[in-house]
Amino acid sequence: MTAFSKKIILTGDRPTGKLHLGHYVGSLANRVKLQDEYQQFIIIADMQALTDNAENPEKVRDNIIEVALDYLAAGIDPERSTIFIQSLVPELAELTMYFMNLVTLARAERNPTVKDEMKQKGFGADVPMGFLAYPISQAADILAFKANLVPVGNDQEPMIEQTNEIAEKFNRIYAPIFPEVKSLISETPRLIGTDGKAKMSKSLGNAILLSDNDDAIAKKVTDMYTDPNHIRVSDPGTVKGNVVFTYLDLFDPDKAEIKKLKERYREGGLGDVVLKKRLTEILRSIIGPMRERRNELAKDPDAIRKILKEGTERARATTAATLHDVRNAMKIDYFG
Ligand code: TRP
Repeated sequence: MTAFSKKIILTGDRPTGKLHLGHYVGSLANRVKLQDEYQQFIIIADMQALTDNAENPEKVRDNIIEVALDYLAAGIDPERSTIFIQSLVPELAELTMYFMNLVTLARAERNPTVKDEMKQKGFGADVPMGFLAYPISQAADILAFKANLVPVGNDQEPMIEQTNEIAEKFNRIYAPIFPEVKSLISETPRLIGTDGKAKMSKSLGNAILLSDNDDAIAKKVTDMYTDPNHIRVSDPGTVKGNVVFTYLDLFDPDKAEIKKLKERYREGGLGDVVLKKRLTEILRSIIGPMRERRNELAKDPDAIRKILKEGTERARATTAATLHDVRNAMKIDYFG
């Protein structure tokens, strides 16, 4: 297949912290798998990160390199995937402005992910305009590349829905230039945190980072939520809602052994310590090679900056072509 006949992926993350296992199973692993079959663009969404970090620009700045390191360590190949920085692609901001006219305030307020985040952050009526509008900017990220597929975690589904609404409206009013976008949600459901909470998140302090060292992994597994009534080894234990088993189900390749361990745990006579040791070893073997690669790459920050600079230039070539089509469709291509 030539580059031109490949379908296009656009996906990415906000640079607000290092990436964790939830990112890995939720979408990073998919991106690594798909980078040959698709032409893949990966956005480090610093402008989106600023929508709720306007007073913390250093945090956003510092995490651009961290997220890039996590991508490369996880197996994203900058030769096959284009990693770029959102704010350095001004066409995205321009397209956002045009799209803003196609979305009502009521629609923006209905986005369920935004609603949840607003509640979590306690914004109420004092929500920054940029925050409320970030799904519109995300639609611009996706459509500026005329992307066909967006591999993301399941909390991003409403963004894809809103993107398609905007694309349809644009196509209807001006000219049909945008394709339909599909989300690719990982088969793995959202990874729960080490504390058993619904979402793994660095800010909730329940995340295992892709950059964690062996000691940190062991400590986090040791502190994992299991069954509070399983006090003595001989006590019967509960498997459901037990974080250690949830993770073993996901990461332990020996499914038959896990089945046996679950039976023994339910009967009583199997201690948490044994299970946690097993999980620690498995997670160390997954994260270890990534961390080593990451440490190697981190020694040469200039090389990372070069990858981002070149990626951003490649990304701009594509978005400039789309914006040319957009202005043409909107009849605002004043000087041809
Ligand atoms: N909203 C995504 C997140 O929270 C980041 C993002 C910005 C994104 N633009 C995107 C994801 C476009 C997919 C496609 O991490």
